[in-house]
Amino acid sequence: VNIVIYGCGENGSQAFHCLRHDKNVNILGFLDGNASKHGGEYLGKPILGDFDEIPRLCRDAQLTGAISAIGDNVVRARVASKLRRAGLQIVRAIHPQVMIESPLSVGEGAIFEMGAAVHAMAAVGEGVFMGTATIVAHHCRVGNYTILSGGVSTGGGVSIGSYSLVGVGASIHPHVTIGSNVIVGVGAAVIKDVPDNVVVAGVPARVLRELPPLDLAGIE
Ligand SMILES: CC(C)(COP(=O)(O)OP(=O)(O)OC[C@H]1O[C@@H](n2cnc3c(N)ncnc32)[C@H](O)[C@@H]1OP(=O)(O)O)[C@@H](O)C(=O)NCCC(=O)NCCS
Repeated sequence: VNIVIYGCGENGSQAFHCLRHDKNVNILGFLDGNASKHGGEYLGKPILGDFDEIPRLCRDAQLTGAISAIGDNVVRARVASKLRRAGLQIVRAIHPQVMIESPLSVGEGAIFEMGAAVHAMAAVGEGVFMGTATIVAHHCRVGNYTILSGGVSTGGGVSIGSYSLVGVGASIHPHVTIGSNVIVGVGAAVIKDVPDNVVVAGVPARVLRELPPLDLAGIE
């Protein structure tokens, strides 16, 4: 399948380095919202343009798939919706050295770095980013467009909402529920439930501040 990666930043680089091992995927190049990058190169691949290039690429280069690789969770979701509306299939960027008990448990558009692990009876939503040495344990649920940074450990039965960010090396107590639009600080130990729209950090994790609710317009 011929694909493009949307986003020429760190997230796009991670998606590229996961996908380049996939023999079923041919990366035609990148798309990006920054017009000054168009016509240039990123990681040795052409930066082909923005959404308006998609019809031409479908016609002339048999483009059929794409992945949204943007660090901001809401923008990543919005871009994935636009790619889908343009008729493209959203692919997963799963590094070959990821351990997933059941591939069906991972949503479209996931980006999993080398050394991530998803146990049996777990479910990971669309567009989730998982870093190296991050473990989604048995019976965990991870919502759409959430980032689990490197070295995040979950106990069994943890639930994490959508559009959240769990910082590097955080640990989550078994059966704890973390809401949507939550930021968990680096190295936190989350030992009790966390509501939506807050920042928590520390050992044990406590609420640092509240976050404004997200604007999810344009996301299907
Ligand atoms: C938690 C976090 C969001 C707070 O950022 P912030 O809102 O800018 O907060 P500040 O840096 O102003 O710190 C506010 C207070 O919280 C404390 N704090 C910040 N991060 C903390 C952490 N991870 N653990 C414990 N305390 C922390 C600060 O020491 C400060 O305390 P003080 O008021 O007593 O001085 C941020 O520090 C963090 O950990 N982000 C996650 C980064 C990450 O992993 N990204 C993923 C990359 S893939």
